[in-house]
Amino acid sequence: MVRHDVVVVGAGLAGMRAAIEASRYGADVGVVSKLHPTRSHSGAAEGGINAALGNAGEDDPQQHTFFTVKGSDYLGDQDAIAVMCEEGPGDIYELEHMGAIFSRTEDGRIAQRPFGAGGAPRTCYAADITGHVLLHVLYEQLVKSGVTVYEEWFALDLVTDGERCVGVTAWDLVRGGVQGVEASAVIMATGGLGRMYRGTTNAYACTGDGMSMAWRAGVPLKDMEFMQFHPTTLKSNGVLITEGARGEGGYLRNSEGERFMFNYAPNAGELASRDVVSRSEQTEIDEGRGVDGCVLLDLTHLGAKRINERLHGSRELAMDYAGVDPIEEPIPVRPGSHYHMGGIDTDVWGHTLMPGLYAAGECACVSVHGANRLGGNSLLETVVFGRRTGAAAAQDVRRNGTGGVFSPSAAGIAERSIGRLLDKNDGERPHVLRQELADAMYDNAGIFRTAEGLEACKAKVEELRERYERGVVVQDKGRDFNTDLIQAIELGSMLEMADCLVTGAIARTESRGAHSRLDYPERDDEAWLRHTLAFYDEGQVRLDYRPVTITEYEPAVRSY
Ligand code: FUM
Repeated sequence: MVRHDVVVVGAGLAGMRAAIEASRYGADVGVVSKLHPTRSHSGAAEGGINAALGNAGEDDPQQHTFFTVKGSDYLGDQDAIAVMCEEGPGDIYELEHMGAIFSRTEDGRIAQRPFGAGGAPRTCYAADITGHVLLHVLYEQLVKSGVTVYEEWFALDLVTDGERCVGVTAWDLVRGGVQGVEASAVIMATGGLGRMYRGTTNAYACTGDGMSMAWRAGVPLKDMEFMQFHPTTLKSNGVLITEGARGEGGYLRNSEGERFMFNYAPNAGELASRDVVSRSEQTEIDEGRGVDGCVLLDLTHLGAKRINERLHGSRELAMDYAGVDPIEEPIPVRPGSHYHMGGIDTDVWGHTLMPGLYAAGECACVSVHGANRLGGNSLLETVVFGRRTGAAAAQDVRRNGTGGVFSPSAAGIAERSIGRLLDKNDGERPHVLRQELADAMYDNAGIFRTAEGLEACKAKVEELRERYERGVVVQDKGRDFNTDLIQAIELGSMLEMADCLVTGAIARTESRGAHSRLDYPERDDEAWLRHTLAFYDEGQVRLDYRPVTITEYEPAVRSY
């Protein structure tokens, strides 16, 4: 067993930023991650990170706050959004001082490009590999801070003493075997769950493990029904083509060559919010104006120089995976599941309702994205709330001491449960259930939803949960680097999280942001201007609700 004051689970941008900050506050910090930190999904973020620096036009944090609130379809908590937008510029300059090489304006300042529905060119970027750059910069700082990193340790369960979180159990992927990780504070920073959908931008690792651990331990999850579809992903494999392509002036065209977005968003066109653009694209496709299930992202008018300077990664992705050189011809794209707005319910310092447990990044819901996130705000959220959560956890530990008792039996229980999984020789293969889940979610809990489709999806998820409970078979019986075993465990988390998502979506009889119900097409503030909370209730999902925090901006009609 190992022990630290603060243990962070997950080593993407939020996790590393939290670990660095907790260490700055003097805590002894350990990081448990199922991946090497630089393989985390944050590295796939392309187009940039928002902050009101005002380098490309008039801007200020208040404007950033307003457009984020509007983008959230008024479901975001306005106090939390204001914190993020006000503190954002400081975090960007800190990243720059750490060594982040942002793209530059002619006069040497950090360059900023427009992103959808932002109201000003506010997205700072490093060409179109911003997440990759930031991930490496934070990894350098993590190494420098002397934090202990348990790479390729897969967190299994939270350990509680009945009242507070006292650590986690984890499977050591490299050597095989369960490890107990005791902590006075545990910060979940385990990322999203997009892999429960077919054709996603998310990495294989995005399976909702951390949310599911928290849920099973009795911590509520918030606004789980809100899944964002990114408008520009490649048909073959769902790989992201950055919103920065439209920020640089790219057009969306249908099969007639028409720039159709102005029919749906007369002012913003291609730079409307993601929910609006994805729905518009899907409507074009459904009404027969698509091109082989896609629409076309046309960058040809931008010219080779601009594409090579600012969108070189996207050009390579289009050439490699779609066989199209965007300098010469448009890229076929379709909406794909991209970002989950819901997650572990936290306050603006990362506290959850369980003492000793904190969360930050995509696995958390503060909530700054509400029903629809603005592009560029997720990277900002990771650094602002990663920093705050690391500070809060370290300070709480200093104030409150070591916390509860980590039962020595916890690792044994986890070891026996893995043993049962490995010993089983008959049953279904996890990948079969995983594919059925991904198809059901994409087909029925996607861009457009109906009661009928969602009920069918819920029934399918329940059926898959039963089949999973009956026992899946892991063919690799070895203990060292057994990815077959990990995928079986991840499937359990995805099924639980899919149940939370679909149950919340059935109940929400309105359309708001990314939750678009064909049978309830209007937003209904009277009934639904409230957060959904999903609780664990003997393995089933129980819903409750909480008001949204409105400080300055009363809900208004949202048009672009
Ligand atoms: O389009 C993009 O580059 C993605 C950015 C984001 O999701 O924030």
